[in-house]
Order: sequence, then structure tokens, then C-alpha cells
Amino acid sequence: MTGERPVPDPEESTLSTHPVGIHDLSVATGSHVIGLDEIAARHGVDPAKYHVGLGQDEMSVLAPDEDVVTLAAAAALPVVERHGTQGLRTLLFATESGIDQSKSAGVYVHRLLGLPATVRTVELKQACYSGTAALQMAAALVARDPAEKVLVVTSDVARYDLDSSGEPTQGAAAVAMLVTADPALLEIEPVTGVHTEDVMDFWRPNHRSTALVDGRASIDAYLRAVSGAWADYAERGGAPFEDIDAFAYHQPFTRMATKAHRHLAKVAGSGLDRDAVDAQIAATTTYNRRTGNSYTSSLYVGLAALLDSGELDPGSRVALVSYGSGAVCELFTGIVPEGYREATHPGATTAALDARTPISDTAYLELHAAHDVVVADLVTPHRTTGPFRYAGLDGHRRQYERNEPATR
Ligand code: COA
Repeated sequence: MTGERPVPDPEESTLSTHPVGIHDLSVATGSHVIGLDEIAARHGVDPAKYHVGLGQDEMSVLAPDEDVVTLAAAAALPVVERHGTQGLRTLLFATESGIDQSKSAGVYVHRLLGLPATVRTVELKQACYSGTAALQMAAALVARDPAEKVLVVTSDVARYDLDSSGEPTQGAAAVAMLVTADPALLEIEPVTGVHTEDVMDFWRPNHRSTALVDGRASIDAYLRAVSGAWADYAERGGAPFEDIDAFAYHQPFTRMATKAHRHLAKVAGSGLDRDAVDAQIAATTTYNRRTGNSYTSSLYVGLAALLDSGELDPGSRVALVSYGSGAVCELFTGIVPEGYREATHPGATTAALDARTPISDTAYLELHAAHDVVVADLVTPHRTTGPFRYAGLDGHRRQYERNEPATR
């Protein structure tokens, strides 16, 4: 016995030839919102710095009885209601706003959604990249067995220190994506470009509830990683730049997508003028300007905005550029199938954004401070308007419950 195995013949691959990708997608965000004019006034800066310089207008703020679990479950609920749980075998929860060092936040979501015990559940982390890792893993599972479905949920709340340069780039959102064979929204193409580099541009050590960031270094690291991922994508036989119709980027602030895309257009040798380059990302920034930074959700909030805009013709190719500080970047593409517009729900995200209650800077400061209180037992006030709520702590155990419509 040598233990050697025969090399598989690619001609006899057992992997499915069905296209695999995103069949349904849904976005959720917090119950509160603060306009960046309020933050600009406290920081003593021209509001145009945030609206134009960062490309951000508002940021979502979580109510005391909301967290990444309630957001994730709220995003996933309509997907589960539309498609049921038949064939669902895996729930992948991507976040960098973890609520526990051991237990996956996904297991709470599993219960809140009433998923069968036969759905495996795990949490993934690599800053803002982990949603893409989850999506690629989901695609691989479905390619192995096209009868299987995977629920990918990204959920994050971005928190920085008060009065820091990162404060106006906070926000929150969750995105749920059902990954299946023969998807209705996006067929993910197999070629991807990857770039990994150990860099300290943004991180959150275990003892901190707010992130640390070297903002300028992060912009440089992001651009370097985009170059690296594009080089790898091209080397592996990816589509030429001119065969890609739209680009969605990770957006810590929407202006970053503009910087990254202009950089990519230059690196890829595009002959397009600046307006044409900017037009290739314009539709992806509308929701992010309002949610604020949602870390690993932000790329998929951008994709939702692009698909909901309906401006892509069926057959169009979209590039997704995923960057997670630390740093990992992946660039991959997907084709928007015939009939995709019927599978979008264009009013849903706008309705969730419009439904948020505006809060004053004083109320926002109170919520920011309350997050850092560490106790074993806690009863949260009833504030969320979402379908699920975080009711507090009982002997260090997080309590989640359905938010009955009568009390919302
Ligand atoms: N009108 C219009 N634009 C203005 C302006 C005004 N009155 N005042 C400043 N600006 C522009 C600046 O020129 C700059 O644009 P540029 O980057 O194109 O040069 C932009 O606004 C930001 O100004 P800057 O002085 O660089 O801001 P800052 O030092 O306060 O920090 C960030 C900005 C983005 C670095 C900071 O908010 C940050 O680090 N955020 C966190 C980002 C993050 O999470 N990164 C990690 C994940 S990728």
C-alpha cells in the first residue's frame, strides 16, 4: 500500500455543469439613522467633507435591542419565506462584529428562522472579506451537489471611537443570499483573482469594542490588493476589462469605490474616460451612502443596489471586488441571467432605509456609550422595529426573541 491515489481525469469530473450563484438576496439595516451633518457639526468640519470627500450622507445606528444576529435574521427571513428550507444544508454567517468567541452567531439565526437541525452552521471571519469567502464556499458546496442550497448571511456593525476620523464611516447592515444551482440573480463564474498580504491597516483586538484603523495606509493597502487580485484574475484567464459591464466594490465609504475603480481602470489599461469609468460603479453606491459602512455586507449591499436599479441588461457581466483589511482581496465575476429583474425586490431596501427613525447626536452618543457596558444580566429596552430582537443577557447568555408585530 503506497497510499497514492490516481490523479482525477478532468474529463470525468463529477462536479456539476449547472451554473451556480445567487438565487435571492435581501438587505436589512438598523432601526435608527443619523445624518452626517450632525457628526460634522460636532467635529467642526465642513459637511461637504463627508458628503463629497467620503461620499456618505447617513449612517444606520442599531437600537439597544438589535445586534448582528437580529439584523442577519431580519435579512434572511424574507428569503426563507420565499423559498422554504427544502434542500438547505448549510448556513454560513460572515461577520467581524462577533458576539461570542466560541459560539457561531449563525446558530442563534438558525433558531430564530426555524431552520431544520440538518442545516450545518458556522461563522467566518476575515474583516470585510469574509462574506465573499462564504459565497465562494457556498458555490463550491452547490457545485458538488446541485440539489443543495446554502444560506449565506453577512452582518456587521461598524464602530469606531467617538471623535476619531473613522467615526463618520460607521454604519450597519446585513445581507442574506441564497446560493443555488441555476440561480435567478447572478451566475458566478469560476475564475477568481486573489491577493493576500499581512498588513496592519485596520483591526479590532479582542479587548476592544471599536476598531483601530490607519485610514491612509488602508486606502493604499486596498489599492495594492486590487492590483494584485486583478493580476491574478487576468493570469488565470479572466475576462478582459472591456468585457465587464459593471463593478461592485467593498465600500467602507462610497468614495473608496471610486478611488478603487479608477485605480483598476488604470491598471487594466482601460481606454475609458473618467466619466465612463465612474458610471460603471454609480448604481452600486446608492444604498451604501445611506447605510454607512457595513463591513463585509457593504459589497453585497452594493450588488443589491445595482440589481435593484434594473439598469443592467440580461447577459451583462458584473465584477465583484471584495477587500478585507489585514488583508485579503478577491475579484470575481458573475453573469446576470435572463429574467433577473423579476427576482429582485427593488422597493424593499429603500423601504427599510426610509423606515429608520432619525436620532439626534445626543441620542446617538448615548447608544454608542451603552454598547461598552459589560454585565452578566441585562434587560434591553424595547426599541427595534425589526422582526427579531435582542432581549438582553441572562447569566451571560444572550436572549433573542421574535418581535411580535403588535409591539413593533
Ligand atoms: N469638501 C469636499 N471634500 C473634502 C473637504 C470638503 N470641505 N474636506 C476634505 N475633503 C476630502 C479630502 O480631500 C479627502 O479626499 P481624498 O481622499 O480624495 O483626498 C477626503 O475628503 C477625506 O479627507 P481626509 O482629510 O483624508 O479625512 P480623514 O483624515 O478625516 O479620514 C478616512 C478619512 C477615510 C481615512 C477615515 O474616515 C477612516 O480611516 N475611515 C475608516 C475607513 C476604514 O474602515 N478602512 C478600513 C476598511 S477598508
